[in-house]
Amino acid sequence: MQLTLEEQEMLDGVHGRATQKAMQILAALGTIYDAERMLPVTSVQIAGVSYDNLGEAGLQFLSEMADGGGKAQVLATLNPAGMDTENWQALGIPEDFAEKQERVIEAFARMGVLTTCTCTPYLTGNLPPFGEHIAWAESSAVCYANSVLGARTNREGGPSALAAALTGRTPAYGLHLDEKRRPDLSVYIPSGLQGTLEFGTLGMVIGQKMEASGGKPIPYIMGIERASLEELKSFCASLATYGGAALFHMVGITPEAAQFSPPGEVIQVTQDELEEAVRSMNLVANEPVDFVSLGCPHLSIQEIGRIAELLKDKKVTKEFWITTARPVWQLADRMGYTQIIEASGAKFAADTCCVVAPIRGRFKVMATDSAKACYYATGKNKFKTVFKPFDEVVLEALR
Ligand code: F3S
Repeated sequence: MQLTLEEQEMLDGVHGRATQKAMQILAALGTIYDAERMLPVTSVQIAGVSYDNLGEAGLQFLSEMADGGGKAQVLATLNPAGMDTENWQALGIPEDFAEKQERVIEAFARMGVLTTCTCTPYLTGNLPPFGEHIAWAESSAVCYANSVLGARTNREGGPSALAAALTGRTPAYGLHLDEKRRPDLSVYIPSGLQGTLEFGTLGMVIGQKMEASGGKPIPYIMGIERASLEELKSFCASLATYGGAALFHMVGITPEAAQFSPPGEVIQVTQDELEEAVRSMNLVANEPVDFVSLGCPHLSIQEIGRIAELLKDKKVTKEFWITTARPVWQLADRMGYTQIIEASGAKFAADTCCVVAPIRGRFKVMATDSAKACYYATGKNKFKTVFKPFDEVVLEALR
């Protein structure tokens, strides 16, 4: 692998211990994937932030990198943490967990990483332009960045994303290269889909078909006339979760689709398959919902405005978490949405989400509009799920 003089110096330890470790990680990755060189990146998004996932070993690694003088060379933001960093007591987060989580965030801050903890960094100022090389780690955000924005990133792990932040580099392989961005599977879908639930379900069904085909193809999707930002973020989360996809092309919607013609291998998604997928996440019989969560991926300001509209002058009857990025929460606060929502008894959970917070086994049945949240709620958190359209999830909290 060809390194520039500066990259070689990083590897030799001239720029300090943490930078050396970071370049070692990237050089090893580059060797594994036959990269010929490093690429400069302009934006990084780091996953592996919740102490629930990191544990003591992860915290120690981050502390060592901060002690070793690591400093972010480019714009770098964080994935959700295990708690709302300002309001963790109200969410029932144990004090010892909060103390560890604060140390994780403090280590990132010492390295100059912006401590905006969100899986929708593109809503809070980390918004790379078309064609830019970046290094992002969170799977739904990676899918969104590659597909909707047309930026270029592989699906990084936590350590490789941090390494990219500290060096401003990533190895040139995979989705950074033109030839690896070609679609290889045509997907025809029913017309008229709308809403986060329907788009999330579509991502789930296509993802499952991709998994069943044994590979990780890049789908070329035909039949969507329009899609909102919220629908696309829901679709990305599902497609990445159920099919491991990091890139798709959607004719008429995503910026690279027009460069390609439909691949020869074809799959069809039917209305029956979509309905069956929704049913598969609604297998609760006679058990009341005791937890409601919206914001997977993190909510946009429009979505929070809609929740405020639905909750105005009403009282929720169960634990209801509204998960979003801190800067979006601040905007919601300025707009008066937080006051309306909190008066209803619902709780904001900024900086975190129902999957990465330490709430395993705490609830029995969760209602959500997110197919990704259903996947992890049933797996990691041992909840049953009720999967409904956005507005109906809010109404479920009032029932
Ligand atoms: Fe984001 Fe958590 Fe869902 S990280 S995509 S809200 S599982």
